[in-house]
Amino acid sequence: MTLAVLLKQDQRTRLFFQSRIEDSNLRLIKFGILALALALIFSVAPNSAQQRQSNNERRINALLTRMTLAEKLGQLQQLDGEGDGNFRPEHRELVRQGLLGSTLNVRGAQRTNELQRIAMDESRLKIPLIFGFDVIHGYRTIFPIPLAEASSWDPALAEKSTSIAAIETYSQGVRWTFAPMLDIARDPRWGRITEGAGEDPYLGAAFARARVTGFQGRDYSAPGKILACAKHWVAYGAAEGGRDYNTTDMSEQTLREIYFPPFKAAIDAGAGTVMSAFNDLNGVPTSANPFTLTRVLRGEWKFDGFVVSDYTSVKELLNHGVAANDKEAAQAALNAGVDMEMVSRLFNQQGPELLKEGKVSQATIDEAVRRILRIKFRLGLFEHPYTAEAPESDSLLTRANRTAAREIAGRSMVLLKNERDTLPLNRAIGSIAVIGPLADDHRTPLGWWAGDGKPDDTITPLAGIKAKVSSKTKVGYAKGCDTLGDSTAGFAEAVALARASEVAVVFVGETSEVVGEAASKSSLDLSGRQMDLVKAIYATGKPTVVVLINGRPLTIGWIVDNEPAILEAWMGGTEAGNAIADVLFGDVNPGGKLPVTFPRTVGQVPIYYNHMNTGRPPDANSRYTSKYLDVPWTPQFPFGFGLSYTQFKIGNLQLSAQHIRPNGKLTVTVEVENVGRRAGDEVVQLYIRDVAASMTRPVKELKGFQRVTLRPGEKRRIEFTLDADSLGFYNREMKFVVEPGEFKVMAGSSSEDLIESKFVVD
Ligand code: NOJ
Repeated sequence: MTLAVLLKQDQRTRLFFQSRIEDSNLRLIKFGILALALALIFSVAPNSAQQRQSNNERRINALLTRMTLAEKLGQLQQLDGEGDGNFRPEHRELVRQGLLGSTLNVRGAQRTNELQRIAMDESRLKIPLIFGFDVIHGYRTIFPIPLAEASSWDPALAEKSTSIAAIETYSQGVRWTFAPMLDIARDPRWGRITEGAGEDPYLGAAFARARVTGFQGRDYSAPGKILACAKHWVAYGAAEGGRDYNTTDMSEQTLREIYFPPFKAAIDAGAGTVMSAFNDLNGVPTSANPFTLTRVLRGEWKFDGFVVSDYTSVKELLNHGVAANDKEAAQAALNAGVDMEMVSRLFNQQGPELLKEGKVSQATIDEAVRRILRIKFRLGLFEHPYTAEAPESDSLLTRANRTAAREIAGRSMVLLKNERDTLPLNRAIGSIAVIGPLADDHRTPLGWWAGDGKPDDTITPLAGIKAKVSSKTKVGYAKGCDTLGDSTAGFAEAVALARASEVAVVFVGETSEVVGEAASKSSLDLSGRQMDLVKAIYATGKPTVVVLINGRPLTIGWIVDNEPAILEAWMGGTEAGNAIADVLFGDVNPGGKLPVTFPRTVGQVPIYYNHMNTGRPPDANSRYTSKYLDVPWTPQFPFGFGLSYTQFKIGNLQLSAQHIRPNGKLTVTVEVENVGRRAGDEVVQLYIRDVAASMTRPVKELKGFQRVTLRPGEKRRIEFTLDADSLGFYNREMKFVVEPGEFKVMAGSSSEDLIESKFVVD
């Protein structure tokens, strides 16, 4: 019996008793019986979940006793389909023989059903396949890139977008996504910074929780829910030099305090699978790392789902140089705790000999199979292996999904500069010049991981602006240049258009090909002749707004120094153009904040807000301090920064106590007031600093945030709680401790705009 059925039955029982008792007016009895009924829910419901679990385990045991070694190894194998979403011809035979447990990229209910039917009808043991796909920020309705969504500082939006993506994905026969990507990234040269929530572990954990919940709900066997995969375990975002797939090397403290928290949050939220990564970590590749895969994940965190390797990352152990041959690679990965191998086939090819030679135990193989089957049972695949073959229009890109995508994109944008009230624009303006290589690009808003998103579905900024302005407004468009290459042939047309218009809006940035996987860059400047285009338009003297369409922080110093208005619009998804127009014309007041630091120059990287203080913190009046000779040590835009069309005042920071115990709680309250003339959103941020401890501590650590909407003149008190989790750190013995001493508490509108107070842990 499912929990839902039980709860429903219990509700009926309660109603029945309620009416009887009211009749006789015996309040006391009523109370007692209700309490009894409630006790029944709480005693029966968990038992049924437990019962389901032990039934599953019994069924797994029964299967394990019947499976041949080849069938067991088959469950550990995942293979890629064709580029168009179909499966490969050889998959049929493998499935028929029980030698394939999963595919990636195979999608469309007809195709998944066709292959599944072979598994369910023609294979000996009838174990269903699990179909996986990268649904990073939407399946067909594409939402803003995850870095943009994190800019909303509103995890509920990420929960909403992932739950919509789950429904679309489910309808296409795919029950498992390789998302969310939870890698903390402090280096914008790394192209995959676009896929995560930025540089901060606290913000990252909040978004991790939200995304897992959005995909999976409370029970991922429910229709419209899919299985999440926390990736890439772990520290993949710390690749040296920002070069993808590169080495990572860091202390265990940094690992635990900065890189682990989003993963821990995802596991606590119930993520059913984890993906091991490509990188090596302190000398041990993460796809063969017993410390991360077994000790932490299974031992400390009690994760009981399965780990899938990244694409051929088991085979790549040879390149890493920790395996001399295929057999050693399979041995290292299996023994470390990888359960399913993506694309390379070493578990299958080498498993029998490894077992014979005693290099991998039967128990290890059985445990990997058990974990995979456990998730297949939890997903309900044995009971419901097929997907209804309904028309795509029933579930994909519905009007409601588009509306949500537009709302989320609007709330993800960050206003970086707005002088002389350049923005918002008046929709009754006489003429507007829409300029730039990304003004009418249909592909770029979809980002690198576009799922099944189609450029034809995308609303470009030009289309969004045209749809927004009054019928009398003249909207001109000139591309000006490409994002790459040296041609300025389009400049003259763009300049003439700007001259003939009342205002120019210039869309520059980067295309989706230069962000995402294998898209590391050594320069963060605008590519090609884009900066020259911006300067040429500026030289016309027309009021200009620069809109950035990009997937990573860029270095845009000249624009910041000269242009009156800059909007960070990121890669905003299918509805990007409409959302941009909503913000440019003031229907949406931008309220996003940067989830990552923007450097002034690439030479400052890595630059992040939660750095250590050093023994010689930067001091403009002292040469021998930690800084650069040729550029300020400060960022272009700090973490947490973002403006609004209105203004806010944050004040009256109060603490519930001046002293607390190490395991005590402290309530922090602060007031935020909209002192401007429009309704708008502010993200109130809370930071702490452990002033003196047994280890060096960051100058600031985010420990709370809240996005609020306030009418002009409205004031609100925001409350945060600090506890041992917020105040502790890993000491030299790798123990999580809260040490006595002074703590600073800071609250404000960005990591650099803060008021502060302090308290003492006794
Ligand atoms: C490699 C990527 O690193 C990973 O994130 C993705 O899920 C797999 N390819 C499958 O597409």
